[in-house]
Amino acid sequence: MRHMLNPLDFSVEEIDQLLTLASDIEHNLPKYAHVCDGRKLATLFYEPSTRTRLSFESAMLSLGGSVLGFSSADSSSAAKGESVSDTIRTISCYADIAAMRHPKEGAALVASLASRIPVINAGDGGHQHPTQTLTDLMTIRSLTGRLGHMTIGLCGDLKFGRTVHSLINAMVRYPHIRFVLIAPDELRVPEYIREDVLKANHIDFKEVNNLDEAMPELDILYMTRVQRERFFNEEDYIRLKDCYILDRKKMKLAREDMYVLHPLPRVNEISTEVDSDPRAAYFKQVQYGVYVRMALIMTLLEVEKPC
Ligand code: CP
Repeated sequence: MRHMLNPLDFSVEEIDQLLTLASDIEHNLPKYAHVCDGRKLATLFYEPSTRTRLSFESAMLSLGGSVLGFSSADSSSAAKGESVSDTIRTISCYADIAAMRHPKEGAALVASLASRIPVINAGDGGHQHPTQTLTDLMTIRSLTGRLGHMTIGLCGDLKFGRTVHSLINAMVRYPHIRFVLIAPDELRVPEYIREDVLKANHIDFKEVNNLDEAMPELDILYMTRVQRERFFNEEDYIRLKDCYILDRKKMKLAREDMYVLHPLPRVNEISTEVDSDPRAAYFKQVQYGVYVRMALIMTLLEVEKPC
């Protein structure tokens, strides 16, 4: 039995197979309509979500399976003090696979150790969000035709943004990747990512404060929200929340073949006037999230690809 706790749980070859399956699903959706008949997905969400929970549910329903679960800790027995381990032992009696989001780093790992079914980390605190990364990889590969040989600008809250941490982890395995890390000093990428991931893998990267100056050199601009829920005080959040706002004027500085990604939800960091720019790819990214989660469910449940 396999889990998906971290993008590195899958080799580059396995991710390639998964993205190829997701692409086949995208182009031949009806073929997959019954491959998970009779199977059940449990969504255990201790933190708010729109895209991740509903795309998992949409994915399982599109495969012919069923879904059950809870969308907040308050509506589960966690509110009475039940541990994650006891919850997943219980859920193992009800479902074939589980996707779990939790505010604590490592919660999905704890669940996996007690589980009798595959556990998917749907976000654990400020740590990892591997299925967002699979979505990001599929988006980049579909739009540019490659996953290496590119400069990726990561902009915003690089300290608490788990999507950024997972994406860096995954992208360093591809050839000739360069990062421009665009953040205020207080929201720099954590030291363990700089030292243990970027420097340890000899990745070319630089840290800057200025988004305008970085724009012309980027193949991908990955914008992120300042993560209010992870701040210790509201004052700091208010001071930093609008540190970068991507607008039409800034887009003029970018190359014609650059793409803008964002895991969403956005608050103010991308002006809605950018949405109509053909380089704005964040709603395409949402759609790819369904196909990639369908492919992941099939892979973890060891479902045969239909002819
Ligand atoms: N990208 C993402 O994780 O969105 P949600 O918080 O809405 O699930």
